[in-house]
Amino acid sequence: MKEMSHRVSKAPKSAIRELFDLALGRSDVISLGIGQPDFQTPEPVIQGNINALKKNITMYAPTRGVPELLQQLENKLIKVNKIKSKWNENIMVTNGGSQAITLAYASIFNPGDELVICSPNFVSYLYCGLFFGIKVVEAERNEDFSPNIEKIKNSITDKTKAVLINSPNNPTGHALRLNELHELVDVIIENDLYLITDEVYENYIYEGLKHTSPASLNGMFERTITVNAMSKLFSATGFRLGYVVASKEIIDLMEKFHQYTVAGTNHAAQYGFIEALKMDTKFFDKIWKSFDKRRLFVYDRLQELGFETVKPLGAFYIMPSTKNFNMTGDEFSREIMKEQAVAVVPGSIFGKFSNHMIRISYATKMEKLKEAMDRIEKFVKSF
Ligand SMILES: Cc1ncc(COP(=O)(O)O)c(C=O)c1O
Repeated sequence: MKEMSHRVSKAPKSAIRELFDLALGRSDVISLGIGQPDFQTPEPVIQGNINALKKNITMYAPTRGVPELLQQLENKLIKVNKIKSKWNENIMVTNGGSQAITLAYASIFNPGDELVICSPNFVSYLYCGLFFGIKVVEAERNEDFSPNIEKIKNSITDKTKAVLINSPNNPTGHALRLNELHELVDVIIENDLYLITDEVYENYIYEGLKHTSPASLNGMFERTITVNAMSKLFSATGFRLGYVVASKEIIDLMEKFHQYTVAGTNHAAQYGFIEALKMDTKFFDKIWKSFDKRRLFVYDRLQELGFETVKPLGAFYIMPSTKNFNMTGDEFSREIMKEQAVAVVPGSIFGKFSNHMIRISYATKMEKLKEAMDRIEKFVKSF
């Protein structure tokens, strides 16, 4: 047989999936690996989807999304993100935040172009680069996981087309402070680059910080692609719905790619998303408090156990170093799964600067978190 795709073969199978394979057949495993919230999808969202199905909304949806949903998103963007956009020019509904990222890559890059990201960072940014023939340049973060502006500047070449940011961040838990965002934006404007901003965790932000969407800043709308999704806010990762916001020219290009690769998104599910956007966002207050409590609990316990750990400012991840235990992140995650049946993700999958780290997701019930931390304690005290 002839050779298959080099670009796709080069991407490793998800290490998170491999971890789940290790856990297979074991009923005692506590997973701190999963990147989805643990609360129930709100009832109006589920009903919106069911009602649409009952009305036989089972045919192709309009390519860019149902107009009522796009209009709701236009409202949300102005109210929550201070982004001025037009629903019929600047917004498109996507198959989750994941496809929004793919569309961002498909619309602005040519093979050989370069993209700068802070590292560690969300794993899809690296492999989408591979699929599109783009060089993804990793600029190592500062020790507190904030972006290192000098390293970002030094990563820029004449081939650089864009910088991608994700705040609040998976896996580090960093959330950009306004001054950090302004410094980044200055670099982007000075170098005439595009900015891709992944904001899927915008509601999971702590320590009094506020999320600012770069597309709302002066002079940034035209050069910014905003990626977002219903997945994390509404605990609806299985709905597979997200959206992109960008200039009309970029959205027009995305529409072509979208049309010929996926022909739209789930039609009935979009009615669930409409109901989600109609909800009073206060529904999230209780959930936020619970996540904040878990964040502080895990941070304190890790510190007590001797991990070097940065206090996370956003999302629902924490990324401690395993250096104090003389282990790489890969070794740590493998051994703790074998010894204590706890699943944590090795840092190595998030880029080349995090081999000595692990990622812990605290999006799991407090009782389980407590049990998991007790098991981690037993593990690290055993040597
Ligand atoms: C930073 C980031 N962006 C995008 C996604 C993908 O979101 P979705 O499930 O909506 O495709 C994830 C999922 O974990 C994520 O962590």
